[in-house]
Amino acid sequence: MTRLAVLASGSGTNLQALLDAARDGTLPAEVAVVVSDRPDSGALRRAAAAGIASVSLPLADRNDRLPRAKHDAQLTEVVAAFRPDLIVLAGWMLILGPAFLQRFHGRMINVHPALLPDGGGVSVLSSQGTIPALRGARPVRDALSRGLPVTGATVHYVTETVDAGPVILREEVAILPDDDEGSLHERIKAVEHRLLPRAVAMALKTRETEEG
Ligand code: GRF
Repeated sequence: MTRLAVLASGSGTNLQALLDAARDGTLPAEVAVVVSDRPDSGALRRAAAAGIASVSLPLADRNDRLPRAKHDAQLTEVVAAFRPDLIVLAGWMLILGPAFLQRFHGRMINVHPALLPDGGGVSVLSSQGTIPALRGARPVRDALSRGLPVTGATVHYVTETVDAGPVILREEVAILPDDDEGSLHERIKAVEHRLLPRAVAMALKTRETEEG
């Protein structure tokens, strides 16, 4: 059975979408491990409830280089120990370090709550014309503060440049006049929950084809 490692910092609703799809057979894979940098995350609780191995790996100080390098090495070791075929970043809020990126090159995918262009670029074409590509930690808030007509969700491969890898699936979400960050993020997440399991299945299929 194909094995997934899921990295998640937050409430874990995207993890749940993967677990549900794996259980009902629409995603031909099993979640082998869930790793979180937040010991109290909903993602770890969901993993425990599903009887899946879970690892909490908090990073004490994000700005200090040495702990970051150590965390990068530990994360790489822990994930590798579970022999995953694919690593899914489902709401993972830490920038991955060089050791992790090298070890799992071409085998990591991420879900992002905004429309991103394929392989990088500062803007993306939407049904309402060209809009800025919103990267970083607050793309939902940024979509509202910039007064964009639409935003969306993107599942893409992870490369060395943050939020700039090849796109697997992407879907637009309209911004409504009375939206706030919470309401808009909820609608984006509903789309993410549909896209992520499909994108993971597509990435696994591509790997199978490539490996012959
Ligand atoms: C998602 O919107 C994801 O795109 C972003 O963080 C959120 C995580 O939500 N990176 P959840 O923890 O899966 O509920």
